[in-house]
Amino acid sequence: MTQRRLFLRERPRRNRKSAAIRDAVRETAFGPEHLVLPLFVHDGDGEIPIGSMPGCSRCSVAGLLAEVERAHGVGVRMVALFPAIDDALKDPTGTESYNDDGLVPRVIEQLKNRWPELMIITDVALDPYSSDGHDGIVAPDGRILNDETVEVLCRQALCQARAGADVIAPSDMMDGRVGAIREALDDEGFSEVSILAYTAKYASAFYGPFREALDSAPKSGDKKTYQMDPANAREAIREAALDEAEGADMLMVKPAGPYLDVVRLLREHSTLPIAAYQVSGEYAMLKAAALRGWLDERRVVTESLLGIRRAGADVVLTYYARQVGEWLAGEA
Ligand code: PBG
Repeated sequence: MTQRRLFLRERPRRNRKSAAIRDAVRETAFGPEHLVLPLFVHDGDGEIPIGSMPGCSRCSVAGLLAEVERAHGVGVRMVALFPAIDDALKDPTGTESYNDDGLVPRVIEQLKNRWPELMIITDVALDPYSSDGHDGIVAPDGRILNDETVEVLCRQALCQARAGADVIAPSDMMDGRVGAIREALDDEGFSEVSILAYTAKYASAFYGPFREALDSAPKSGDKKTYQMDPANAREAIREAALDEAEGADMLMVKPAGPYLDVVRLLREHSTLPIAAYQVSGEYAMLKAAALRGWLDERRVVTESLLGIRRAGADVVLTYYARQVGEWLAGEA
């Protein structure tokens, strides 16, 4: 059989024929400057491993400083703090969330003393502090109270701002909280503190390992009356318009990998920077397969983050942030 010649004017492979050409035409890049490292912290001694997130721990305050030191050393300059609060300090309205001597304010102070230019992102929601394990206040009949919750979230945000947080990130999904927090911050002279809104946060099973890490699973019911239905995308555009109008500085989509279409939608419907959160369950999947030798960890992690950036995210929150920084720095 003679070889048929294809007379093709267009041969896209020509732009892939050498590393130099591939490097020259690459459309998406990412480095440690785009990454945020989420960290779990508790008020005791020692590091407590998280079973479903090998490689991640609930850090002591000292352990957290050591983690940040490593991450900062490889160019990761943004961290997000998540506290594991003693059960004895939890109550139905989450009063510990605005205790100026609480765990988060103390951690912020220590981080700021050591790395003044580190961007510290703090989570605003009641679940780590609530005896009910919900992001909002639970009424006797089980409903999650919106406006009453927003009042407490404002106190929490102010407490974090007083301690030196750079970016306040409400993850609770109550209506109107971005505007209320913006007003509360401005009233108290914190007009330079940013708001990163969890705009499209879905009611996702991928948060399972995180709830194990913080022991923060809801005691009853689920989060479907405030977090979004995974089936919805148009609704994310509506949430984005509201958060933008209420004064958000950045919009977030969460989880990231299964919701790349939503990342792209928000990219197209807003001029604000977009963040995406590669959540605990996404980390657990990648890590589990890597530990079994089923996937090449470095390559799949890099590809998953590149995909999130390609979809339109400027900033990516990932438990792999430090590790990626080390890979890129050639340290691991
Ligand atoms: C709670 C909160 C959650 C996460 C971040 N903030 C869990 C939840 O909504 O139940 C999940 C992060 C992750 O899974 O990595 N306000």
